[in-house]
Amino acid sequence: MYRFLTWAKILDCKRCYLLLWGIGGRNGEDLVSGGADLDVGWSFPSGTDVTRSRVGTPLELNGKDSTHGVKLMKRITFKVTCSLLFGLPEGKEKDALFADFIVAIKGAWSIPLDLPGTVFGKAMQARRRVTKLLSNLISKSRRKMEEGKVSSQEDMISTFIALRDENGELIPDVQIIDNCVTLMIASHNTTSIVLCMLLRLLARDAEVRSKVLEEQKKALKAREENGGKLGWSEIQMMKYTWRVVQEIMRMTPPVFGNFKRTSRDISFAGFHIPKGWQVFWATSPTHMDENIFSEPEKFDPSRFENPSGSIPPYTYIPFGAGYRICPGAEFARIEVLLIIHHLITNYEWSEMIPNEPIVREPTPYPAMGLPLKLHPNKIHV
Ligand code: HEM
Repeated sequence: MYRFLTWAKILDCKRCYLLLWGIGGRNGEDLVSGGADLDVGWSFPSGTDVTRSRVGTPLELNGKDSTHGVKLMKRITFKVTCSLLFGLPEGKEKDALFADFIVAIKGAWSIPLDLPGTVFGKAMQARRRVTKLLSNLISKSRRKMEEGKVSSQEDMISTFIALRDENGELIPDVQIIDNCVTLMIASHNTTSIVLCMLLRLLARDAEVRSKVLEEQKKALKAREENGGKLGWSEIQMMKYTWRVVQEIMRMTPPVFGNFKRTSRDISFAGFHIPKGWQVFWATSPTHMDENIFSEPEKFDPSRFENPSGSIPPYTYIPFGAGYRICPGAEFARIEVLLIIHHLITNYEWSEMIPNEPIVREPTPYPAMGLPLKLHPNKIHV
């Protein structure tokens, strides 16, 4: 059962958010209640080669003996999203998009004053450049589809181009752009956080690290027998690693909750909540409820060995639940496993700031950005 907190008022950040991310969207309200206005559930087609070149993890770190975990993970996850969802190749264009995206995202939490020099003003300028770039990508993709060079399932952009709404109409470009930006945001401050927490844990907990490494060595061996490609069967071998990630998301959920609207009168914990009210469900209080998870403060990935037996529905909710559950959950799973596979089979790392605290802005982050000392350690199997 979700733990509901009654929702008193919508903060003004809603306005910033809509201005920045949903200027032309069909139903911007939906952005507030949870995300995109189209069902964009997506998974890797079977047979996809989830290869090293697409992620470029080792490339990012080549020749370095230290790195900034938060920045690194944000950059890598952004690149993965842009490559796999939008087909944007490596290069200046992608780097510029990343730079603009970072400026624009800051504006979502600023005073909505669109004047030159203000955080919001700069964010709006960056948002316009992001729009222009995505607009060009859409035009290119449409041209290729008309020429029969790519299918309508090539990537997310081609899928949006081919999509028809409930009246059989094509989706206007402005909405495709809004949906692309929503996907960028949705995948940016979530997967990167999980990866940061995983890097932090693996630097601290030798036992967990050694078990993860053992599992990843087996995946590496299978990969080498498979011509170096990392595919579905190797991903399926990473069960312990994923349980560790699940436990990280239980204890430090990247998303602290979301808004829902009640479709009928309900009562919860003695409170009457009328139909039509906005309510906010919160992840951490649910995940730390000892009636659901015994010894909730204890890090114990084995909780997820048989989740259907011990974890009741709607109680483990890092990806939300129900009708609007995160459509990127599977994408995130593959992305996290893929990135950690490349890192742990090439490097060891240690924290440069011991006991670095976690701050919330509002998503959880290591306060100093997780500086890490890198020790190249390529695994040979
Ligand atoms: C560890 C990574 C992620 C976490 C923890 C996460 C978490 C969430 C949560 C809690 C929600 C709200 C669900 C609800 O209200 O019931 C959500 C919605 C959403 N997420 Fe994710 N997410 C992650 C990664 C991603 C990725 C990689 C993508 C896209 C590629 C994505 C796309 C979306 C979208 C589009 C929505 C809105 C869905 C809707 O309203 O119908 N997410 N996510």
